[in-house]
Amino acid sequence: MTDNKAPIEQLKNSAIVIYGVTGDLTKRKLIPAIYELALLGRIPEDIHIIGFARRDWTAEILFDNFYEAVKSSLPEIIDDEKIKLIFQNIHYIQSDFNDNSGYKSLVKYLTQKKIKNVIYYLATPPEAYEEIIENIGKHKLNHLVSGWTRAVIEKPYGRNLETAKELDVLVHSVFEENQVYRIDHFLGKETVQNILVLRFANGIFEPLWNRQYVDHVQITVAETVGVETRAGYYETSGVVRDMFQNHLMQLLALTAMESPVGFTADCVRDEKVKVFNALRPYTKDEVLLHTFRAQYASGSIGENRVKGYKDEVGVSPSSVTETFLATRIFVDNWRWSGVPFYLRSGKRLPIRMTEIAIQFKQVPLSLFNWQNFAGDAPNVLVLRLQPDEGITLTFGAKLPGPINQIASVKMDFDYGDTFKTRTPEAYVRLIQDALYGDATLFTRADEVIAQWSFTNRIIEGWAESAIKYLPVYEAGTWGPPGADFFIQKNNHKWRNVESG
Ligand code: BG6
Repeated sequence: MTDNKAPIEQLKNSAIVIYGVTGDLTKRKLIPAIYELALLGRIPEDIHIIGFARRDWTAEILFDNFYEAVKSSLPEIIDDEKIKLIFQNIHYIQSDFNDNSGYKSLVKYLTQKKIKNVIYYLATPPEAYEEIIENIGKHKLNHLVSGWTRAVIEKPYGRNLETAKELDVLVHSVFEENQVYRIDHFLGKETVQNILVLRFANGIFEPLWNRQYVDHVQITVAETVGVETRAGYYETSGVVRDMFQNHLMQLLALTAMESPVGFTADCVRDEKVKVFNALRPYTKDEVLLHTFRAQYASGSIGENRVKGYKDEVGVSPSSVTETFLATRIFVDNWRWSGVPFYLRSGKRLPIRMTEIAIQFKQVPLSLFNWQNFAGDAPNVLVLRLQPDEGITLTFGAKLPGPINQIASVKMDFDYGDTFKTRTPEAYVRLIQDALYGDATLFTRADEVIAQWSFTNRIIEGWAESAIKYLPVYEAGTWGPPGADFFIQKNNHKWRNVESG
């Protein structure tokens, strides 16, 4: 991981070229993160930011947009003078992504300004990746500066195994693997980074973290948002591509992996790849047995009435795109043999919440013939990743009083209460690490391909059994009844995550 004492001087004369600078990601995530990094003294205030996009903008318009971006994301730390300072070296290139003149003017700018290190950040829709990467190669932008050159590439990285491999061939024709930083923004979240700290900086959890003691694992990524304005993308994606192939699989890998031999990018990623390679591959029939998908209908999220998926602008009335997915996964290695990992994610669920719950086994022999409110398997370790960040261990305790009863109680660690500090956005960490050359929190080529290999089986299995309708769930619920039957097959039950 980036050494926080790494001297900022090494970033002198560095530039970030943002393709798709006029887009939503730049506004919501990248610019606020760059501003915050400069405020924290992690990047130089005179860093060069070069926007590259099609819109008829100028550097002045770019500045106004950056200002608005910071104002809307970080109103509590906005400072007009600082903004002027931090965005003093911005430049805008208006160009199509396949237009030679745009790349030529980029070469000219980087040369004139004597830029030493450069990041090419692909914040465009994925359809543009190919032409941008080809043009970076064609105009030798990959070999232009005297220091380092890196490429940051957003998800989705391909839309199936084949296209991910094709993209990778192209990427590697222009960049060496160690120059490529593939983003899965979940990895930049503080609490996600803490999974490895919890597991490997403490001695008490690891001995229990295996098939001897763990009954099953539940990973939930619940969202209240619907498809918003992204129907065009989402219709061809669904939860399987949008959340499962990347964020959920990464959470699974961090939960299941062995201890890395060192805390370096390659050691950590080696272990994650081993988890992906150990996933029991579904046969085509097993896909239907081990996955459950559904689509939201209209309903209420809190006080608000919301539309059903098929009524969203841009969604086909006959769409069978899943907005909810539950999967049952087995990691076939010595540590996890036979332990089911349930992964579920959905849009328009009752609350926004991401957690990993390790459900421990029952005691070997039940001694207490008492009323037991904690149940037979009271021990659950819950890593609450967002929004109420913390860790909870649940266990049974004797209820005070003359009547013998067992209650379920909790030991609770709360990030906010404990550290009393704002949790930075994932992008603050990720942009910092890309600038300092630490790829630990980025996905390596073999990793992303291994993630697709597993996901592809699901996509292909579904394609084999073409369906006309998906089960529906009312927005604001935890999926249709089928989602409960799905997990009950193994005598398990989804956690009531709302009650913690
Ligand atoms: C993105 C998905 O990768 O992650 C979105 O494309 C999803 O559909 C988002 O809403 C969730 O991220 P976060 O950080 O808001 O939990």
